[in-house]
Amino acid sequence: EYDLKREKLYFIFQVTGKVEFTNLKCTSYDPKFSEFEYYHFKAINRTFKYLSLKVKLYETPITNVKVNVALLKRFGGYKPFLYNVTVDACKFLKNPSSNAVIVYLHGFFKSHSNMNHTCPYDHDLIVDKLTADFLNTQVTEVISFPFGEFLFQSQWFAYDILRASVNVYVTLS
Ligand SMILES: *[C@@H]1O[C@H](CO)[C@@H](O)[C@H](O)[C@H]1NC(C)=O
Ligand SMILES: *[C@@H]1O[C@H](CO)[C@@H](O)[C@H](O)[C@H]1NC(C)=O
Ligand SMILES: *[C@@H]1O[C@H](CO)[C@@H](O)[C@H](O)[C@H]1NC(C)=O
Repeated sequence: EYDLKREKLYFIFQVTGKVEFTNLKCTSYDPKFSEFEYYHFKAINRTFKYLSLKVKLYETPITNVKVNVALLKRFGGYKPFLYNVTVDACKFLKNPSSNAVIVYLHGFFKSHSNMNHTCPYDHDLIVDKLTADFLNTQVTEVISFPFGEFLFQSQWFAYDILRASVNVYVTLS
């Protein structure tokens, strides 16, 4: 149980579709500020798999959040690929059209998350049942990715201090 709040790798499941979640790595850098209560992939059946996580926030309300999102592709090791953007989340949520890349990435999880309102944040954060199929739709319809192994790396800053990272590993085949 304690391990769940710290860095840990999960090796999960195979998906029959084009996009497979392979690993999920969540790290809290400041357990006095925030901790992962849980994070996992779950396979309901062969075609329905989802990602869920919950972050407990201990110093609410939070009025300053920055997120760095980078996409990496595996060429031997993971190398920067396509995106590396940092966004002021509070500004973005007030004016969602301000950054096309973030609008696109936010589309991955906004309908599966309670991070869908403007700042401040005064409650625990939840991503609930984000499916690989959902990602698949987004990925194949929005841009054509080359096949391979990818890492969606996100780093979460509050008041300009790195508090947590969420890394989602996917395979596109
Ligand atoms: C898989 O589970 C989902 C969600 O419960 C359901 O909608 C879907 O019909 C199931 N698919 C199969 C093949 O059982
Ligand atoms: C993203 O860009 C920043 C600033 O240039 C850099 O420090 C960071 O290492 C980059 N991240 C990745 C994953 O390449
Ligand atoms: C935000 O997400 C919560 C939980 O999923 C939902 O109940 C609420 O209606 C959503 N709010 C908006 C503005 O989409």
